Amino acid sequence: MRFHTRKWVKPEDLNPNGTLFGGKLLAWIDEELALYTIIQLENPKVVTKHMSEINFRSSAKQGDIIEIGIDVVKFGNSSLTLKCEVRNMMTRETIISIDTTTMVNLGADGKPKAHGKTQIEYVKNRLS
Ligand SMILES: CC(C)(COP(=O)(O)OP(=O)(O)OC[C@H]1O[C@@H](n2cnc3c(N)ncnc32)[C@H](O)[C@@H]1OP(=O)(O)O)[C@@H](O)C(=O)NCCC(=O)NCCS
Repeated sequence: MRFHTRKWVKPEDLNPNGTLFGGKLLAWIDEELALYTIIQLENPKVVTKHMSEINFRSSAKQGDIIEIGIDVVKFGNSSLTLKCEVRNMMTRETIISIDTTTMVNLGADGKPKAHGKTQIEYVKNRLS
């Protein structure tokens, strides 16, 4: 799994108990998964369709640095299914894991559209 993004837990990210608010973390994850999908499928019009069970395994506190990891589970016809794990960058302790999130590639009409991709591509290999 490649860990793409780091986040610094700030006061505005906390819940009333003083730990990282789960909704905030899910928003960060959803955005990361969307960006990953947009880049892989080369289409900015993608949506989150389905998320499997979400398991909050440990919390994070103010000042922690966390990192978001993403892996491809499956390239579908119009969909891309991803796996995600967030961990504390210093301790490597897992904060949350989501086994599958299905993102769907849309056409201009807002309906699912085949993306034609079958494997992970690296942006540097597209530039020549
Ligand atoms: C995404 C949306 C267009 C899909 O419409 P739909 O009628 O379910 O489309 P389909 O049945 O053709 O399914 C499209 C793909 O999603 C997959 N899919 C559908 N329901 C799924 C589910 N419950 N779990 C996992 N994958 C699912 C299908 O397998 C298909 O993948 P494939 O083309 O790779 O085989 C529609 O449900 C939608 O607009 N949902 C709202 C999305 C949204 O607003 N998200 C939040 C903001 S980003």
